[in-house]
Amino acid sequence: MKKRPIAIIDSGVGGLTVVKELQALLPKENLIYFGDNKNVPYGSKSREEIVILTKKMLDFLVDKNVKLVGIGCNTISTVLSLVAPQYAIKIIGIIDPVVSYIAKLSNNKVGLIATPFTAKSGYYNLNLSNLNKNIEIVAEGCPKLASLIDCGVYTEEEVKEEIAAPMAQLNANHALDTIILGCTHYAIITDHLQKLYPDTVFINPALSQALAIKDYLTENDLLNNSETNSEVNVFTTGATEGYQNFITTMNITGVNSIIKVE
Ligand code: DGL
Repeated sequence: MKKRPIAIIDSGVGGLTVVKELQALLPKENLIYFGDNKNVPYGSKSREEIVILTKKMLDFLVDKNVKLVGIGCNTISTVLSLVAPQYAIKIIGIIDPVVSYIAKLSNNKVGLIATPFTAKSGYYNLNLSNLNKNIEIVAEGCPKLASLIDCGVYTEEEVKEEIAAPMAQLNANHALDTIILGCTHYAIITDHLQKLYPDTVFINPALSQALAIKDYLTENDLLNNSETNSEVNVFTTGATEGYQNFITTMNITGVNSIIKVE
């Protein structure tokens, strides 16, 4: 069981941000990455569509004998309670771990930029209110940003155009110095965002999730203790070519294969 891989799934390349954090934290773990790039963006789909597509990915992973699935996608994490009970495998969403982190902050308000689905779901606030009623999360959806990043070809100008309206909306109505990158795709462009908004602290949920995965494996004596080098095997329903660029620019190591699946 310990040697089995950890799987990370997302609608596209965004979950690679979780892979990156996991590699830093747990370098001996073998990883499987599954991106449903053919169907990205999930963030403008219906709840029913997201549930169906997520189950398809999880069914694929059951056959791969993984020891845990990390949902490297905020949008999927908001509907996880409709999916996870149908699987025997341990599944860790990306939102709950970062909400636990935010609950300890001293801010009154924290911003959230996310897919329209995640922003509208209210899931962040709902979960935060169970832990700390003194912090409010104010959310804005970015309709096209995830798709723009996922296609791999974008300019600083295009990013600026996509992010300007939601950021202006957040800043006009609230005095915010901290904003959660509530879509894993956005963390890929943290440098761009930081350059555009140098005074804002951006929170990347991938780190909290990687820590939660480490805690779970440690508590359940499931950490891989083998001495062999770990590897990452990537599966995508989209084109394989673009992945190599993301892997290189994000400094993801040990990638053994990038395979297209139906
Ligand atoms: N990366 C995903 C997230 O964290 C969603 C991108 C999308 O498919 O809309 O929400």
